[in-house]
Amino acid sequence: MNPVKTGLLGLGTVGGGTATVLHRNATEIARRAGRGITVEVAATLDLERGKELGLDSLKLTADATEVVNDPAIDIVVELIGGYDFAKELVMTAIENGKHVVTANKALIALHGNEIFAKAQEKGVIVAFEAAVAGGIPIIKAVREGLSANQIEWIAGIINGTGNFILTEMREKGRSFDDVLAEAQQLGYAEADPTFDIEGIDAAHKLSILSSVAFGIPLQFEKTYTEGITKITPQDVEYADELGYTIKHLGITRRTEKGIEQRVHPTMIPKSRLIANVNGVMNAVLVHGDAVGPTLYYGAGAGDEPTASAVVADLVDVVRAMTSDPSNRVPHLAFQPDQLADTPVLGMDDITSAYYLRVCAVDQPGVLAAITKIMGESRISIEAFIQKEPAANADTVDIILLTQRVNEGDMNHAIAQIEALDVTCSNVTRIRVEALN
Ligand code: HSE
Repeated sequence: MNPVKTGLLGLGTVGGGTATVLHRNATEIARRAGRGITVEVAATLDLERGKELGLDSLKLTADATEVVNDPAIDIVVELIGGYDFAKELVMTAIENGKHVVTANKALIALHGNEIFAKAQEKGVIVAFEAAVAGGIPIIKAVREGLSANQIEWIAGIINGTGNFILTEMREKGRSFDDVLAEAQQLGYAEADPTFDIEGIDAAHKLSILSSVAFGIPLQFEKTYTEGITKITPQDVEYADELGYTIKHLGITRRTEKGIEQRVHPTMIPKSRLIANVNGVMNAVLVHGDAVGPTLYYGAGAGDEPTASAVVADLVDVVRAMTSDPSNRVPHLAFQPDQLADTPVLGMDDITSAYYLRVCAVDQPGVLAAITKIMGESRISIEAFIQKEPAANADTVDIILLTQRVNEGDMNHAIAQIEALDVTCSNVTRIRVEALN
């Protein structure tokens, strides 16, 4: 059989990794797919890039539009990232009847509903395994491997750059900016690294996971997003004393009221496996009603780990190309006409346990005032520590761990604590998840 011809859009970190893996493992890949998979042409503005990758014979073009309109190409592999031009190229490729493989989580999270509808109309596949958690086959696991289950919740470390920064800061005392610069140099970070450190990249990925887990349309705009920039060394130390680690997690959970969909720093018990996932590694915990907890671990960013997912998608597409479109795995795991309108909850409606750090004047009656507010708000305190005041300081840190409570009630209690004469104006709040 003739090989399947692909056109790569982008030959940067992931594009370079994909071309390299396809070339190096060509024989094994053909044995798996049943046909060879070749790169017909790669679009890049750096026309020396082929030589740099040691792939001198790779045909390059600076014109990505030419690739998506080339009748010789069966599958377009979109690895340029971003929303606008990438969307235009993907929609044109679909319009031209080509299958698409993409690693672009931003594109899928924001425009996936429209892209999948168009792909369904044209009878083509859009595969996006590499969009979530780099090399971990988490889309395949949730969409196919766990299809017997009602998924109850997912919690994951799904941004490698953020996890790398937190790990290096905690273990080596390195500065935030220094580690971020290294993550950029290693090709882990997004073109705009605020996407990593402000949680936007993780929110893109979480909204995709949420949709394939619960069969709801993609709703990135409803994902609560908080990054890692406000985590202080002090809170890392206090968390450690209490037996917790702070990780930046994406959490999605099915509740009676709707779906929680949130990304934020989270304190988790040090004893959990996922608490020990460090560096650029990602891990995703998926809890299904039949299987119970399952954990997936691997490199969340980088050239060849991400290429691993891109090439696996290519093999899947090649195997399914000749199948009847109605017999293929649906893009969002559930049949398109079976997607549910279950609401994604606002943060006031989620439940969590909380760590609170209250800075207060060191005088009698302060604790009583704080615990009175908690009692009146019907919030149970699980643990409590008062730190020694620092030398010459007239305030102390009071640390509270609460039981699970509605976030709206917690916000109300925090506002009252902040309004006390004896407390500083900002209470630090970190959500706590037992993940059991
Ligand atoms: N910037 C992303 C990360 C790349 O660090 O996880 C992989 O999606």
